[in-house]
Amino acid sequence: MTVRVLSHQEMNIDNEDDVVLVRRAVRTLAEARGFDSFAVSALTTAATELSRNVWVHARKGKAFIEEVTDGDRTGIQVEFVDQGPGIPDIEWSMAGGHSTAKSLGLGLSGSKRLVDAFHIESEPGKGTRVRITKWKRF
Ligand SMILES: Nc1ncnc2c1ncn2[C@@H]1O[C@H](COP(=O)(O)OP(=O)(O)OP(=O)(O)O)[C@@H](O)[C@H]1O
Ligand SMILES: [Mg+2]
Repeated sequence: MTVRVLSHQEMNIDNEDDVVLVRRAVRTLAEARGFDSFAVSALTTAATELSRNVWVHARKGKAFIEEVTDGDRTGIQVEFVDQGPGIPDIEWSMAGGHSTAKSLGLGLSGSKRLVDAFHIESEPGKGTRVRITKWKRF
């Protein structure tokens, strides 16, 4: 499946307020593009958890918010990139209920369930990249 990017927005995450700004930008775009309210909430919640992860676990990174199409439908894709400590055991961190920050450990697993596509890659010492996609239902 070839995905074409229709619009692109880049945001820095380097303080706690940026988490709120990313949340707001994702919500605004999803609403403007006519996503239903369930999809808006799902995507906004996932984007909030993932930007919070950048802030909490890596202290700084970026969010790339894109409007995409695969030819048949349009969607919103958000990619979170940081050069933080990375995740040594992705399976463990994705399982749910596991946290290195004495938190609930539900951000990654919860986010995955809220979106249509979830891609994560991470290398200890190098950083983490998470990409989520939500397609618009007709
Ligand atoms: N961007 C990141 N950089 C480094 N480690 C990360 C990153 N995102 C997640 N992790 C690791 O994966 C674990 C699970 O993440 P998850 O978001 O599910 O839980 P959490 O952030 O610990 O708690 P919460 O439920 O509050 O989100 C984290 O505890 C952390 O060890
Ligand atoms: Mg988290």
